[in-house]
Amino acid sequence: MSRQITGLKPTGHLQLGNYLGAIAPAVRAQHQTDLLVFVADLHALTVDHDPGQLSGLTREVATLLLAAGLDPAHCTLFVQSQVPEHVQLHYLLECAATYGEAHRMIQFKEKAKAQQQVRLSLLSYPVLMASDILLHDIDEVPVGDDQSQHLELTRDVATRFNAKYGHTFVVPKMVHQVFAARLMDLSDPSAKMGKTGSSGAGVLFLLDPPEALRRKVMRATTDAGREVSYDRAARPGVANLLDLLASLTDGSPQALADQFSSYAELKGAVADAVIETVRPIQRRYAELTADPAQVDAVLREGASRARDRASATVRRTTEALGLLTS
Ligand code: TYM
Repeated sequence: MSRQITGLKPTGHLQLGNYLGAIAPAVRAQHQTDLLVFVADLHALTVDHDPGQLSGLTREVATLLLAAGLDPAHCTLFVQSQVPEHVQLHYLLECAATYGEAHRMIQFKEKAKAQQQVRLSLLSYPVLMASDILLHDIDEVPVGDDQSQHLELTRDVATRFNAKYGHTFVVPKMVHQVFAARLMDLSDPSAKMGKTGSSGAGVLFLLDPPEALRRKVMRATTDAGREVSYDRAARPGVANLLDLLASLTDGSPQALADQFSSYAELKGAVADAVIETVRPIQRRYAELTADPAQVDAVLREGASRARDRASATVRRTTEALGLLTS
């Protein structure tokens, strides 16, 4: 059975791109793979953050993951900072990764450009991500398009480390989604839908009330044409809506395009599908928030399970590097 991992940063409220790109595939994968899912709270520290909000957002993300269908009997769910081996391995891998390769990361360049004070941890972010993956002997990492470059770096570091210090790490493969590998912002189809960084008008948050979701979909940017056709380059807004509908209904965007004679009709169908998808998640979320001790217990148990393997990897790595281990 292959082992997979997926991580989500608690930098804001989860949105539908997180659901389609990471959560829904994880919910499906938990029955076929040995699955680890974690809340990447240390990653949230790489940009300016509000310490008063972080633990609340961390719990919100964990609770939403359970509400969306992750079952602790079938996967290991934990919070990154509660498995301190992530930090230990991060430092050890920093000694095997180079400044040049971290500096080349597109996400670093984009995020650094938008800030006056760039944290050093933003530069080494992909090395922490590599440690998240290599720590748990992961075979496959399902990620949205935005994370491909980070995955390549993980593979490079693991391969280099193994060649230089002896076989220590499993070199993981990347797994891509077919549709909605990158769900775009509804008001700006040239930008990825994200938890942060936009006004939120084009972002479908998983905890948005149904009427807000419908309003955002009905106001989505399309173009001046009328005919519904799937053309990513010429009609990115319409293509994004078709991709979204396709991933929510397991259809194909091209075939769906033929079913609608106007943008309004398409938007109505998208809004219905989005609301139907989030309704049971929101209901379960409300139940779980009534009992936060239950969520905390799941996270404690998950961290303890994750630490068993993690400590073995750190030990193997320190030995390979020649550090004194006893
Ligand atoms: P984060 O929190 O930005 O996103 C979590 C997951 O959601 C996917 N995603 C999307 N997929 C499709 N369309 C979108 N608009 C969209 N927005 C987000 C992301 O691809 C991701 O799978 N660096 C990671 C967190 C992380 C991680 C890891 C992931 C840290 N360590 C190790 C996997 C393995 C991140 O920023 O996720």
